[in-house]
Amino acid sequence: MPVLKDKELRIVGFLCNWCSYGGADTAGVARATQPTDLRIIRVPCSGRVDPLFIIKALFEGADGVLVSGCHPRDCHYSVGNYYARRRLEVVKQFLPVLGIDPRRFEYTWVSASEGQRWQQVVTDFTSQIHELGPAPRLEDAEPLLKLADMALSSLHALGTNRNAPLAELKEAIKAKLPELDCVIGWQQGYDQAHATPLFMTTPEDVDKLTWGPLNVMNPAVFLPQFKGKKVGIVVKGCDSRSVVELLQEKLINREDVVIFSMPCEGTLDMGRVNSVLGRYTRIDDIKYDDAAVTITADGKEHRFCMTEFAQGKCYSCVTPGAVIADTRLGQPVPVQPGSVTPPELAMLDAMTLEQRLGFWKGQMDRCLRCYACRNACPMCVCRDFCISDSRNPHWMNQGESPKDKLFFQTIHALHLAGRCTGCGECQRACPVGIPILALRQQIARAIGQLFDDYKSGMDQNAIPPLLTYAPEEKNIHEREWK
Ligand code: FES
Repeated sequence: MPVLKDKELRIVGFLCNWCSYGGADTAGVARATQPTDLRIIRVPCSGRVDPLFIIKALFEGADGVLVSGCHPRDCHYSVGNYYARRRLEVVKQFLPVLGIDPRRFEYTWVSASEGQRWQQVVTDFTSQIHELGPAPRLEDAEPLLKLADMALSSLHALGTNRNAPLAELKEAIKAKLPELDCVIGWQQGYDQAHATPLFMTTPEDVDKLTWGPLNVMNPAVFLPQFKGKKVGIVVKGCDSRSVVELLQEKLINREDVVIFSMPCEGTLDMGRVNSVLGRYTRIDDIKYDDAAVTITADGKEHRFCMTEFAQGKCYSCVTPGAVIADTRLGQPVPVQPGSVTPPELAMLDAMTLEQRLGFWKGQMDRCLRCYACRNACPMCVCRDFCISDSRNPHWMNQGESPKDKLFFQTIHALHLAGRCTGCGECQRACPVGIPILALRQQIARAIGQLFDDYKSGMDQNAIPPLLTYAPEEKNIHEREWK
């Protein structure tokens, strides 16, 4: 029987079979009056609730989602709800960056004997959703197409690395080359102003190696393909975090990889550089000073100052030096203390929920669905079995609407929760320049805040926070809801 006067809203509830579903049953048998907005989906355990269930429900028109399981320590599979708690809290903290009010999603614990508590929970949650009203739909949002100016403040000085000991690096690689099948680095691309991957197998190849702010690509993306072979890799600080994460997940073997590193002073955002260069037929010259790269194209000089044209990730980089290396060249640089909110995320932080919804609608309208973001990601390793291509289960259609495309981006970001090292390859590879790294950055920020400042890709022996649990979570206070 409805107890709330307003029109019914759509609320989806995922209830564990053993406790909360029983609790709802107990409330029903006791004829406890409850709102009728909730549609219940029974799951074996709260640990079965994939974050995608929640996002899918919210994208498909639910005004609220409630997950309820057994109380901690009472899970019938011992620890399902401990794992669920971590995942669900991350989802809750992720929703605002999409423009969804986090109060539209709650999770709680109700046992089979707690009919009265169930009545309270469902009544309180339904009232909360009624207070919020029907959820704004992505389809109805006003698209926000223009990117707001990003506030660019850097954690450390950015530069062009022009004094890096490249000759020494080449010597070190040549000395190791006979023991290796290949060494991955960078070389000049189709012109002097662009770099491309280099696979070195001979000393002549090593002579082509380049180092500097044009080396934007992350070579770690190729490492899993070389599993079982002896391979060397030249890394920047951010690339080294991807190597650590691959080691952590046992996607590569430490004894098969030789890591060469030099400190990095920042890399250029080639999207912005290319838009300034415009159409040109030839690069006449490229010069480096301490603070900027000057490119002369078709006789016209363009100066790209690193403090203005670096990739967004470089402003908040905590690892200008590699976190792991066998051969280090240049001055060692420690991990940077403190933190700066990356510019893409700061831009979204400054928006209202409504503006963020419009922002993603506008950005996803431009998405080509080319999957370059996925293919460039070093941690996106189940590519052949990607959920976006799967027909069983058929989570995603191949629709062209902003909602379909944002759902894919959301899945990608959630699959990288606690794994993304913030290398920015997804955003760099995007041919239309959508700042999708912000979704991963929001999750990384939530993970850091919840789990003792955890940063992925820093320690190859660390257990990623979503692959473990604590019976009492220091920073998760789910019992405080209502
Ligand atoms: Fe209920 Fe695991 S069985 S939460």
